[in-house]
Amino acid sequence: MLQKKTILHALTSVLETIDVPGLGKKYQGKVRDFYKVDGKRILITTDRQSAFDVILGHIPFKGAVLNLLAAFWFEKTKQIIPNHLTEVPHPNVLIANDCVPLPVEMVVRGYISGVTKTSIWYSYEKGERLIYGINFPEGLKKNQKLPNPVITPTTHPEAGSTVHDERLTREEIIKRKIIPEKLYKQMEKVALNLFDYGSRFCKRRGLILIDTKYEFGLYKGQLTLIDEIHTPDSSRFWIAKTYLQRFKKGLEPENFDKEFLRLWYAKRGYRGEGKPPEMPIELVVALAKRYIGVYEKITGKIFKVQKYPIEKEISTSILNLHI
Ligand SMILES: Nc1ncnc2c1ncn2[C@@H]1O[C@H](COP(=O)(O)OP(=O)(O)OP(=O)(O)O)[C@@H](O)[C@H]1O
Ligand SMILES: [Mg+2]
Repeated sequence: MLQKKTILHALTSVLETIDVPGLGKKYQGKVRDFYKVDGKRILITTDRQSAFDVILGHIPFKGAVLNLLAAFWFEKTKQIIPNHLTEVPHPNVLIANDCVPLPVEMVVRGYISGVTKTSIWYSYEKGERLIYGINFPEGLKKNQKLPNPVITPTTHPEAGSTVHDERLTREEIIKRKIIPEKLYKQMEKVALNLFDYGSRFCKRRGLILIDTKYEFGLYKGQLTLIDEIHTPDSSRFWIAKTYLQRFKKGLEPENFDKEFLRLWYAKRGYRGEGKPPEMPIELVVALAKRYIGVYEKITGKIFKVQKYPIEKEISTSILNLHI
């Protein structure tokens, strides 16, 4: 079991950002720093914690957990769809084929839930039945399993842009030629296959994959899965064992993701505007444990706690590569 004091020690030197010498311009997403070198994208997953599209703080070990978990899933799903991964030289680093990103994020939802304004429950509760261009039946209850998973696509602004994701419908995407029809239909099929695979896998590990988002790009003209897959940053999970019992009683399911972080901020009136309240240590510790917990539950492996600081190790691992 991870000791609180180990987390506190790492907290003094979390990976906020990294400068690797000699790689040229550094780019930054909310969570990843990256370089583009000879057709590759060197993605370094940092410990930055984002929610509401804002960086709220830093969580020790989060970078490695996310990166290793994504790498785990990339390996598992490569039969369904080729992905960008070529190498993982360090727990925080992923060498990827640099792809032409497609401007739509494929959000797949197996359950009607959520607290944010983009969630389907938010619209459904207000009486809407046509949401993201999809018809929903009458009588659904909050957190109920949908008859079939649905895709609710959103726009995907480039890293570093301050524009928020916006809702789309498949009709708009096809009509406005945001993505060519044939390609978009392939993305839909792949997204549903990935979600089906992920849901079954998680179920065997005692988790429900509630919803998730996939990003795609083109590599040499071929559809390719990029960014990350089935991580606690791109997905939400519930504990499977207690779900049905709680649902029947009208209780909220036990979540096993970072939803408690959103709730903590929402409770204090923060939803992404203005200066966020400072994250208390207890919340940092709980989040570190949660991220590691998700990694261990899904992969069935023990997370190898890193010795912080880790900047030097990361740089060396990259500079030793022959890209
Ligand atoms: N192989 C790839 N080729 C091209 N772009 C990629 C690839 N893998 C990831 N990206 C992009 O690199 C960036 C990675 O940064 P990061 O994951 O921190 O972004 P983000 O701010 O979290 O945004 P997002 O919500 O889109 O993930 C994202 O813009 C992602 O779309
Ligand atoms: Mg991302």
